[in-house]
Amino acid sequence: MLLIRRPQRELSFVLIRAFDRRSAVRAPLCPTASAPDHVLMETATLPEVHRAGGLIGAEIRGLDLTREYPDETYEAIRQAWAEHGVIFFRDQHLNAEQRESFARRFGEIRVKQELRKEPDQTRAIGEGWHTDMTCFDEPPVATILFAEEIPPWGGDTQWAGMGPAFEALSAGLRSTLLGLRAIHSNVRKLGLSYEQTDPPEPSIADYDAADGPVHPVVRLIPETGRSVLYVNPEFTMRFEGWTRRESLPLLRFLYEFGIRPEFVTRFKWAPGSIAFWDNRQVWHFAVNDYQGQRRVMHRILLAGTKPIPAAS
Ligand code: SIN
Repeated sequence: MLLIRRPQRELSFVLIRAFDRRSAVRAPLCPTASAPDHVLMETATLPEVHRAGGLIGAEIRGLDLTREYPDETYEAIRQAWAEHGVIFFRDQHLNAEQRESFARRFGEIRVKQELRKEPDQTRAIGEGWHTDMTCFDEPPVATILFAEEIPPWGGDTQWAGMGPAFEALSAGLRSTLLGLRAIHSNVRKLGLSYEQTDPPEPSIADYDAADGPVHPVVRLIPETGRSVLYVNPEFTMRFEGWTRRESLPLLRFLYEFGIRPEFVTRFKWAPGSIAFWDNRQVWHFAVNDYQGQRRVMHRILLAGTKPIPAAS
């Protein structure tokens, strides 16, 4: 617990409540609006966690991320992130320094980028289901996207939960997938430059020849003990020991299955919104339906480690 001096107008928001992972609520237990300004309050500033859908996503409320909070606040955020796959914040207008300071609370910053689509551009970065950078040996553990300028309509992002998708498969297919690994590569040479947002589709031979890390097809999320599907339409080339042509029927089935509506959540952005996702367990898709408008985001990727295979 931390002792913090708070101005009187904020006292009614002082909370002392254990973080409840399932019920997604907090309760103000300390209605102190009549306390004088000079009182030192014992506070635990824990966030409200409101589920966005039944199986994936949650909105975090009750925090002002321009402030510093005690470690337990960030621990509660991390727990919500690991449990829900993607978490959202609203009305958080952070400058570059504050964005980085928030990100560093959860790990080492690997990449910082501006994602900008200008009114005269028709293609957008991320307009296909993918997981960020699984072509690396140690793919980023998390992505944090901060909205700066948002079109008046459209420009939402969707996420699909690979934990619930894996759990919904038959026991037989789950057991087969647990025994597989897959090769990942950036064979399409996707990148952040405009020309790299929509490169031509490579040939089957290119997919077969592509070299890259071999990741488990089902990975473990250590914080929750959950097994999640770990292939994605952008960077998974083929199953280890299988050709691309042999791999495609099963990959296509998983890609179709993984975006069933119950596994997907969609977020409507406004300036100051933040989405913070667990890149180990969700795919995402930037909806490109705002032609003629500008959209400017800041993205931070946090360094990850080699995926841990789920136990078969
Ligand atoms: C991405 O990380 O793929 C971009 C997502 C977005 O801009 O909504």
